[in-house]
Amino acid sequence: MSEIAYRLGNDLDLDEVIDLYRASTLGERRPIDDRARMGSMLRNANLVVTAWDGALLVGIARSVSDFSFCTYLSDLAVRQSHQRLGLGRELIRRTQAAGETASIILLAAPRAVEYYPRIGFTHHASAWMLKAGEPLR
Ligand SMILES: CC(C)(COP(=O)(O)OP(=O)(O)OC[C@H]1O[C@@H](n2cnc3c(N)ncnc32)[C@H](O)[C@@H]1OP(=O)(O)O)[C@@H](O)C(=O)NCCC(=O)NCCS
Repeated sequence: MSEIAYRLGNDLDLDEVIDLYRASTLGERRPIDDRARMGSMLRNANLVVTAWDGALLVGIARSVSDFSFCTYLSDLAVRQSHQRLGLGRELIRRTQAAGETASIILLAAPRAVEYYPRIGFTHHASAWMLKAGEPLR
């Protein structure tokens, strides 16, 4: 493995991104078979950090941020072959650095519930979610 390079920006090949989601297992929980939706998710994310092993895309942190108060980190994914090497932590560090006064908010995938407390995140007891299509009462 060569040295990992990090890049900022969402000008990425959608097929490479979908392949990464699949190779990290996060694809099981994202609409990777809906290319149009994945394309929209990538295009409209305004804070995307990627990790590269040579020409191979090996990690991504995809967020929506105002760079001042809040950053919603929607997708963090590292290729299985490159997990537990510090890439996830570095992707988050760079996401945080992009908006120094913004807090990072996320929902942990089942496989990552132990990960976030380990690297310094605190659990928030009053987080709420209105899922797509759920009616307001
Ligand atoms: C979760 C994930 C992003 C972590 O990225 P990573 O690059 O493998 O993790 P890091 O190397 O940054 O790990 C940092 C520390 O957390 C630990 N860690 C890594 N994955 C962990 C997990 N799933 N649970 C608990 N601890 C974990 C590492 O051992 C390391 O500990 P250390 O500092 O004591 O050595 C990555 O494993 C992944 O893509 N998983 C599948 C997709 C997923 O679930 N994404 C989260 C969506 S919310």
